[in-house]
Amino acid sequence: MSGDIETTARILDGKSLAGEIRADLTRRVAAHRAAGRRAPGLAVVLVGDDPASVVYVRNKRRACLEVGIAARDVDRPAGTSQASLEALIDELNADPDVDGILIQMPLPAHLAAQSLLDRIDPARDVDGFHPINAGRLLLGTPGLAPCTPLGIMALLDRAQIPIDGKRAVVIGRSNIVGKPMALMLLARNATVTICHSRTPDLAKTVREGDIVVAAVGRAEMVRGDWIKPGAAVIDVGMNRDAAGKLVGDVAFAEASRVAAAITPVPGGVGPMTIAMLLSNILASYESRLELAGRGDLRSS
Ligand code: GUN
Repeated sequence: MSGDIETTARILDGKSLAGEIRADLTRRVAAHRAAGRRAPGLAVVLVGDDPASVVYVRNKRRACLEVGIAARDVDRPAGTSQASLEALIDELNADPDVDGILIQMPLPAHLAAQSLLDRIDPARDVDGFHPINAGRLLLGTPGLAPCTPLGIMALLDRAQIPIDGKRAVVIGRSNIVGKPMALMLLARNATVTICHSRTPDLAKTVREGDIVVAAVGRAEMVRGDWIKPGAAVIDVGMNRDAAGKLVGDVAFAEASRVAAAITPVPGGVGPMTIAMLLSNILASYESRLELAGRGDLRSS
């Protein structure tokens, strides 16, 4: 590292924690297989060939295979109709080998994405995007929850960062990250503020946060002087700066001089998202196993 970046914050190493979680999941899958049960299965639906989506999907499939989850590629051309995707989802919902269904977002503009997500069996909705699962998260009842905020909670807990009674500021209000993140922090007794593009004096509000989660998708928007000294800073951003370098939503060098703990980009939140996807798939598989009275899932 260059000498002019003086990092005082603890680095929250998502890559390393994700590795531990994956090792644990690998052991659990192996135990199921050793007992004669089929592998857990994920169907990954990719429509079109958006380059970023192709990379994300490849990483998710690879991660599945590493822990022993059978990942089925379901690639469809960009022009695929809504009706044929609906038929595909119905088919996957009825497939006894499929524990998780993931539709990679974004979908081409002619498709009604939420109506496709609504069609996924909530018990196979490993992204946690179905309205039933969103509602369960809101109500605090058991269900499948979105992977990125789940991964962030795991990172905070592993680092023993206190949440109860703390001020948390979430920047971004997406259905995938911002809203579920706010609900999870609220469920743990944080006082939560959700900020977005219309929030006046964003810096002032962010400065109130003992925990700051940045999920806006704008390179290095959150500056060091926005951060309360001693705060925990979680950076969900994955952006390219002017030089093409991968950077987060937080100006890392500045913020790490003020924060007590901070996630790097890459190697922070990203690997945790994938680890939580795998964890959701296994949870879905294990609950199906119980429903089926075990025997039904034995491999022949
Ligand atoms: N596109 C960007 N993030 C995600 C995600 O977490 N799940 C899916 N399915 N698509 C995405």
